[in-house]
Amino acid sequence: MKVKKIILIGPPGGGKGTQAKHLEAEYGTIQLSTGDILREAISSGSDLGKKVKDIIEGGGLVSDEIMIGLIKERLLSNDVKSGFILDGFPRTISQASALNDFLEENSMKLDAVLEINVPDELLIERITGRFSCDNCGQGYHDSFKLPKLEGICDECGGTVFTRRKDDNKETVKTRLEAYNKQTSPLISFYKKIGILSVIDGNQDIKLVTKCIKEVLDA
Ligand code: AP5
Ligand code: MG
Repeated sequence: MKVKKIILIGPPGGGKGTQAKHLEAEYGTIQLSTGDILREAISSGSDLGKKVKDIIEGGGLVSDEIMIGLIKERLLSNDVKSGFILDGFPRTISQASALNDFLEENSMKLDAVLEINVPDELLIERITGRFSCDNCGQGYHDSFKLPKLEGICDECGGTVFTRRKDDNKETVKTRLEAYNKQTSPLISFYKKIGILSVIDGNQDIKLVTKCIKEVLDA
């Protein structure tokens, strides 16, 4: 299967990370989740982590300058030169314009921009119920996906689980506002360029993957 260059756009809890993992397995393309990169920086206690900790935990957006620098550096690495799934970047028009310029300068072309569309009212339940295995990162959900054996990770047998600090009702509201104000304008930005496909994210996870694959394989 051909490696692809893809952007996933969607609200907090929309399923970007879930779908990126499936697409990684299917197309051999690496997921670049800016949220994961920033959370790793926070855990490691790096300078970047210290700068962004309060912003992320409050649900706001990290500055364009930091994010553009970070993603450009990552996109120049050998492992992603042939393909990537951008999950969480771009998130503002400035980030999208900088990415376009960067891709052009480096003779790279996007295969698709996929908007995963989910109504706001479903997102709070999805996010507040989410937790993951501390050891291997496998994701679970209080209502939709519990480990088969209570308290034991299906994948690695781990017994410690964590919840993201920004996965609470209050912060989700701020994250949703940021999405609706600053990120949703990207939908018309990419529509104008002619590479936007809208995916119904309010259906079973496997059906969402199927719809995405139909777009990518067309
Ligand atoms: P980030 O980590 O990107 O968070 P987010 O955009 O809020 O999205 P989530 O990771 O919460 O949701 P997701 O779409 O990945 O959904 P998931 O698959 O997990 O960013 C975090 C923060 O970092 C930002 O707030 C910001 O501060 C900063 N940041 C990152 N990038 C930035 C940038 N470019 N610029 C500035 N700041 C930046 O699914 C959620 C749950 O729903 C799971 O439990 C899952 O199992 C379940 N689920 C998924 N799909 C379905 C389905 N179809 N049906 C039922 N349940 C489903
Ligand atoms: Mg995610």
